[in-house]
Amino acid sequence: MKDLLKLKTSLSEEMENILNAQIKVEAHSSSLYLAMSAWCDDQGLDNAAHFFAKQSDEERQHMLKIFNYISNRGGRAISPEITNIPTDFESFRGVFEQTLQQEMFVTEQFNNIADKCTKIKDYVTFNFLQWFLEEQVEEEYVARRILELFDVIGEEGTGKWEIDRHLVKVTYDGE
Ligand code: FEO
Repeated sequence: MKDLLKLKTSLSEEMENILNAQIKVEAHSSSLYLAMSAWCDDQGLDNAAHFFAKQSDEERQHMLKIFNYISNRGGRAISPEITNIPTDFESFRGVFEQTLQQEMFVTEQFNNIADKCTKIKDYVTFNFLQWFLEEQVEEEYVARRILELFDVIGEEGTGKWEIDRHLVKVTYDGE
């Protein structure tokens, strides 16, 4: 029966597993950013709290995009189990350093998946991935520009609150 059902999809089992693993990465990002939102809120950094709540929502949308892609190709998407999400963070700057690190990791994952697509000639999935590859340029850009605020303003005195005030102005227009 399983083999018969498999005939319904041209998505290989290997690619299905890889994409399900990426669902988990996106869900992890979503939970991590929500934890960062709570921490920033606790520190009185309202804009950063809002920023991370929005990021968390976006990551859930990324997760669902992959989830739906697997389902639409006739595969079996797996709702991920997420564990080990921290509740505490060392510093305001550290939160954004971890964000950049996470996004660079995600970029690497999508590059690896794209690489795999070309190796197994899955150009349908390769095409699907293009949106994510472009999105990663924005995600890394925003995290880097916010980290620059820490270099320019500094966290001493009222610095943290100045950074929190300015970070909402960081946007990516693709130019
Ligand atoms: Fe879905 Fe921020 O990568």
